[in-house]
Amino acid sequence: MTPVISIVADEEEAGSVIARRIADDIEADPQCAIGVATGSSPLPIYRYLAVLVDRGLSIGGVDWFALDEYLGLADGHPESYRSILLRDLARPLSIAPAKLHLPDPFTDDPDAAAGDYEHEVSDARVRAQIVGIGRNGHLGFNEPGTPLDSPTHRARLTESTRAANARFFDSIDDVPQWCITQGLGTIMRAARIELIATGEVKADAVARALYGPVSPDCPASVLQTHPQVYVTLDAGAASALPQQKIAAS
Ligand code: GLP
Repeated sequence: MTPVISIVADEEEAGSVIARRIADDIEADPQCAIGVATGSSPLPIYRYLAVLVDRGLSIGGVDWFALDEYLGLADGHPESYRSILLRDLARPLSIAPAKLHLPDPFTDDPDAAAGDYEHEVSDARVRAQIVGIGRNGHLGFNEPGTPLDSPTHRARLTESTRAANARFFDSIDDVPQWCITQGLGTIMRAARIELIATGEVKADAVARALYGPVSPDCPASVLQTHPQVYVTLDAGAASALPQQKIAAS
């Protein structure tokens, strides 16, 4: 089905639009599972969810599932995705740490940890999965070339993703080489997918994801085959979309 595309004024409006839909999910099913992402794009969603919680939205029964986690960082490293989600999501929203789920990066057998997480996410039946998009079209850490039906797996980051994420570390050498990520097949099992992208730097990836060929060359293109995808963009991220498609959406 064609994704529902909204072009909004700025990232704060993008965040509030998506947060309101997530709040509706939670009100409809207070025990639901919500998939969350790291990166800077989803932060406005978490900020607006915090506003809704302040206004009385009750989220104590919700389980929150991360897309991915780095391998090789020390426990408690400030740039591990667990630390980031504790800082940007769990603490501001008073989410109990036990309700935040990520792949376990501290095991001797990351492939087994990936398999365990695949089961955990599948069993949870994610109601809405928030995703950002990498500049090369990656989702989670599913880099170009990843099979479109992949399960949760150990993956190697591309150099371009390490370079993009180097801004969070002292140097690119400190960016991990490996991670565990939900696969594209895992992400696709969420009942609804909420893609948020802001800034012109994402324009090309967004256009390829929505209107390019469905191909592992652009992992996010798999979203074209999902029955319920909402895409929320600012003008910069929408700037490479074909004009007639924007008018029609
Ligand atoms: C990382 C994450 C992705 C995220 C991407 C883009 O690679 N694993 O889930 O979509 O960064 O991040 P940002 O939103 O900061 O551009």
